[in-house]
Amino acid sequence: MIVKKLLVTGSSGLIGSEVVTAFSGDGWKVHGVDNNMRADFFGPQGDTRWNLQRLKENHPAFQHHELDIRNRAAVLDLLKELKPEAIIHTAAQPSHDLAASRPFDDFDVNAVGTLNMLEAARQACPESPFVHTSTNKVYGDAPNEIKLKELAKRWDYDDPAYQAGIAETFRIDQSKHSVFGASKVAADIMVQEYGRYFGMPTCCLRGGCLTGPNHCGVELHGFLSFLIKCNLEERTYKIFGYKGKQVRDNIHSYDVVQFMRRFIEAPRQGEVYNLGGGRENSISILESFDLISEISGKPMKFEYVEQNRQGDHICYISNLAKMKAHYPGWTITKGLKITFSEIYESWLTRAAK
Ligand SMILES: NC(=O)c1ccc[n+]([C@@H]2O[C@H](COP(=O)([O-])OP(=O)(O)OC[C@H]3O[C@@H](n4cnc5c(N)ncnc54)[C@H](O)[C@@H]3O)[C@@H](O)[C@H]2O)c1
Repeated sequence: MIVKKLLVTGSSGLIGSEVVTAFSGDGWKVHGVDNNMRADFFGPQGDTRWNLQRLKENHPAFQHHELDIRNRAAVLDLLKELKPEAIIHTAAQPSHDLAASRPFDDFDVNAVGTLNMLEAARQACPESPFVHTSTNKVYGDAPNEIKLKELAKRWDYDDPAYQAGIAETFRIDQSKHSVFGASKVAADIMVQEYGRYFGMPTCCLRGGCLTGPNHCGVELHGFLSFLIKCNLEERTYKIFGYKGKQVRDNIHSYDVVQFMRRFIEAPRQGEVYNLGGGRENSISILESFDLISEISGKPMKFEYVEQNRQGDHICYISNLAKMKAHYPGWTITKGLKITFSEIYESWLTRAAK
């Protein structure tokens, strides 16, 4: 039997590690690329080595490559050597707040690192599906122009056109993106271009809030994971603006990977999908406080800061219709309560070690 090879970048991170688990389970030979740069970005709280260790223990065939995707020569060599049958690119500087203090690193990792991966793939294995994790920040803060209504604990769209959420046709320019959003736009467009111009089977998954038990949530990235950790440790969570009613749609990393699987089985060229939890998995910060308190039995301690984060969305809900139309059968399987509970349990387990 021929064993297929998958290359996943950012393999020690939230999404990358879920990819390793899923594809190893399916019998693929999985190669991961990660240099633990999350610890460099976010300090010890962002260290992903515990996750790498967990992957090595659970999947003995998994092969880790301690490699920086900014190292163009090394990326070209690795792809030439492996010629993987599929590539999932999740390595990134993922925080829009952090990007402002390190614009060169942000752009070098997010934009140039993605180009390195694309060109290496084109030279080594242009037929292999290439899945890129983009972000809803490519829309900048333009979603804030949608008419909103204020409810008791959340904002919501007050425009029937957006009842099902924001679709992929939403405009991406002429709004404030944050430095991070801009570097991700560059990567997103390049991934589409390698699909359209070179005919490669690429796609961009424009993530809402991707979450799950294996996230190392920190204040600057991984909102739900960090919020739940604060509740567990009885620490004060800071709300930045919008009365704490800002809404995010959350998708469990398991459901993210189920979609990636389907794309790899039946790839298309230069596609774009808004990948979030949709309306059913949307929740505001205040509503999140209620849900986690219900699970943990602990009240949430918080402090309100008037100033919102630059370029932050007030209400963001992904429209999942295109994903479901292109890949019938794919759907969200993990609702908010189970996702919250899994994240909570994971922090408990990590704290006990
Ligand atoms: N988590 C979310 O809410 C969310 C939302 C939208 C989009 N995304 C996107 O999804 C992708 C994955 O996000 P995540 O939450 O799993 O992030 P993560 O930080 O948990 O994982 C990213 C991994 O990439 C590694 N990495 C960073 N720079 C690297 C480099 N130069 N070379 C090699 N490895 C490097 C990090 O060490 C980390 O393990 C990113 O592209 C992110 O922008 C995430």
